[in-house]
Amino acid sequence: MKGIILSGGKGTRLYPLTAVTSKQLLPIYNRPMIFYPLNILIKAGIKEILIIVAPERAGDYLNLLGSGKEWGVKFTYEIQDSPKGLSEAFIIGETFLQGDDVVMILGDNIFEEDLTEHISSFKKGARIFAKEVKDPERFGVVEFDKDMKVISIEEKPKNPKSNFAIPGVYIYDSRIVQFAKESKPSERGELEIVDLHKRYLDNGELDVRVINGEWIDAGTFDSLVKANLLAQEKLHKNLII
Ligand code: TTP
Repeated sequence: MKGIILSGGKGTRLYPLTAVTSKQLLPIYNRPMIFYPLNILIKAGIKEILIIVAPERAGDYLNLLGSGKEWGVKFTYEIQDSPKGLSEAFIIGETFLQGDDVVMILGDNIFEEDLTEHISSFKKGARIFAKEVKDPERFGVVEFDKDMKVISIEEKPKNPKSNFAIPGVYIYDSRIVQFAKESKPSERGELEIVDLHKRYLDNGELDVRVINGEWIDAGTFDSLVKANLLAQEKLHKNLII
């Protein structure tokens, strides 16, 4: 299993904080944001991690994170020329992945829960996660039955079929690269990750696990404050890097 942290994008909602730096390098309590998803991967025993960044910020990531040797892992860096969607990560990452399974985390997603068991128990197909929220219409939404069988997934639906949002951590087998290459941009011009999930769902190979701990997508001013408080109160005690 290899890891990808997708850490590009424009961070327009956090402007002007993001005028001179990347969103995922902003401080969350005593660490740059990207350290939180990195902790998830390193705790889960993942040794090879691809960090995908925007061209104008690449040097900052190299200066901050280096080779990974000091934490016993190996970082590889790739540039995403423009933010064309989450699925593009697997096209950019094809050479890095070399047919291995992958767990991808978005660089601005903060998780309280240790995801090690969810990652190490993965066998094949795809695994997404579900977190109950009050405002599911802002997110990708997953509907599942009492046996945890996925029934539907929808991107930012006006009338959500459940209250479970899909957080920014996903696990796939090696077919993900081919599925990403075959996908077409949506109306907003992005390669949408929900289309890849639908490929696995149509094959009956999409699995979902509920996340009980807190999950914060730190992309807005208010969620950034919440992430700082969560890190100060709880997360910083359990970080390994
Ligand atoms: P978003 O928060 O949807 O986009 P953004 O970070 O550019 O922010 P804003 O909407 O405020 O302009 O992206 C979610 C995460 O995925 C974030 O960590 C950035 C990353 N991302 C990429 O690296 N490349 C992409 O093409 C996209 C769409 C997102």
